[in-house]
Amino acid sequence: MIATRQIHNLSLIGFSGTGKSSVGRLVADALRFTFLDTDSVIEARAGKIIREIFAQDGETGFREWERRIVEELARRTRTVISTGGGLPTVEGNLASLKAHSLVVCLWASPEKIFERVKGQSHRPLLNQPDPMAEITRLLALRGPFYRQADVLVNTEMRSLREVAMQVIHQFRLAQAAHK
Ligand code: S3P
Repeated sequence: MIATRQIHNLSLIGFSGTGKSSVGRLVADALRFTFLDTDSVIEARAGKIIREIFAQDGETGFREWERRIVEELARRTRTVISTGGGLPTVEGNLASLKAHSLVVCLWASPEKIFERVKGQSHRPLLNQPDPMAEITRLLALRGPFYRQADVLVNTEMRSLREVAMQVIHQFRLAQAAHK
């Protein structure tokens, strides 16, 4: 299936705290690609932070922003795209990313994710009395979407740099397969 695709870009999907933005920046630097974070693009366009978008327009409003940005990404080349954790769960988004990019999912267990995101308050979906239970619930719901990535990289026992090297290796393999 990948053989019929055009791999101009690299998309990183996965739950909050799996290192998408940090790894994405390292990968973009190494490949000399542009780095783009969908959350940052949405905040710049909307003129408000994600917490405010959720508060004013609800999760539905936020997902609509994501859908629109994903549509626009099809026009990009040489870009590393870091996506919000819930973006692949919306119908059409994954297929759209796969049309122009290698989709890599960064994975970690709920315990590891909790350890990495605890104490942070900018994610509305995890601002709950029991964030660990919410992470476990959402990960179970999202697993089937994350597993549709072309490549799954476990981030648990690896440093950000090691994860980035693994992602770059997979990207080079995919590009070589499409020449
Ligand atoms: C979300 C994850 C966040 C952000 C928004 C919703 C989610 O991005 O898009 O708060 O649905 O899991 P990160 O994955 O970068 O934290």
